Amino acid sequence: MIDKALLSKLAQEHGTPLVIIDHAKLRQNLEEFRQWLPRVQPYYAVKANSHPAIIKTLYEAGASFDVASLPEFLLVHENIKDLPEQERQDFIWDKIIYANPIKAIPTLKELDQYKPLVTYDNFEEIKKIQKHAPNVGMVLRLKVPNLGAMVELSSKFGAAPEEAMALIDASEAAGLTVEGLSFHVGSQTTNFQNYAVALNLAAEIFKACRAKGYSKMNLLDIGGGFPAPYDENVQPLRECAKVINAEIERLFPEDIQILAEPGRFIVASAVTLVAEVIGKADRDGRRCYYINDGVYHTYSGVIFDHCHYPVKAIKEGPTQICAVFGPTCDALDTISLTEELPDLELGDLVYSENMGAYSHASSTFFNGFPPAKVVHL
Ligand SMILES: Cc1ncc(COP(=O)(O)O)c(C=O)c1O
Repeated sequence: MIDKALLSKLAQEHGTPLVIIDHAKLRQNLEEFRQWLPRVQPYYAVKANSHPAIIKTLYEAGASFDVASLPEFLLVHENIKDLPEQERQDFIWDKIIYANPIKAIPTLKELDQYKPLVTYDNFEEIKKIQKHAPNVGMVLRLKVPNLGAMVELSSKFGAAPEEAMALIDASEAAGLTVEGLSFHVGSQTTNFQNYAVALNLAAEIFKACRAKGYSKMNLLDIGGGFPAPYDENVQPLRECAKVINAEIERLFPEDIQILAEPGRFIVASAVTLVAEVIGKADRDGRRCYYINDGVYHTYSGVIFDHCHYPVKAIKEGPTQICAVFGPTCDALDTISLTEELPDLELGDLVYSENMGAYSHASSTFFNGFPPAKVVHL
């Protein structure tokens, strides 16, 4: 947690709303991931927060990257574009995965020159890849249970496990190389058994592939889902890692490379937002505060990410239950109807922690209000 005096100082210096990115915390989260999951290579999921400075810090800390669009790929590529040709190509092979199973044809055409790993989960995609990006490596994304995740992903992506062999056969028949399997158990998962179920499903398919002689299948991508510490009920990463490590050890021989795509875990706790009270009213017996950031901006995760970010005050004093609204003219711009806050005046500062993932990344210019300013610690 950044101390309140520093939050106030930064707000005074830079104005509000202010997104404060703590780069030491980013490095610490990456290290923690490596410590608890030593066999798993972390590919930071850029979509969680694509700020170039975050990518640079993680690049310098030796992270790999999961990108899900051409602009995200190019953001990462910016860091390696001046490397000698072979080193640059090795970085793409070893440290980037394009993990969006659906890719537009112009994207495939552009990606082909870089020969990255890409995920896919359907027959139509095989035809597109064969025609427009025959030089990429392929990873089949499986549909796995997402029970108990804050954000469910399995209704949109993933091949049914019973369809997997047919998709791998079709890719090989098309002259493409399938290098592995991937899955995603749903974001901010609370049910670590999802990983165990998914790892068992993947192990069965690996066995079947090896039995068929598909010797290039040597990579397993266990996706994201690793929980960020939004509140005291969230279990720590080490508990999640216990389940994953035990199953990996039991099911996957050493020659299978294991990677993951953590987004939220790496970036959520590295960002704090500071905003300021710009309006105050009592409505239907409830104190209402209007602040200069809301759900169309840094609090966009309230809508898109199904996330709750407690709003806290810098000032201390007896509290009451209040509503907190964003600055736009839309009633949807409601951050919370039940925050405990002291009596605040116009200009008083409020802040929310754990704001790094799926928040600033989906901020808009709605109603003429620009996204919050970003500063770096
Ligand atoms: C394919 C893929 N990988 C990784 C992630 C990152 O997941 P998380 O933020 O839960 O770690 C996502 C999130 O939506 C995703 O779709």
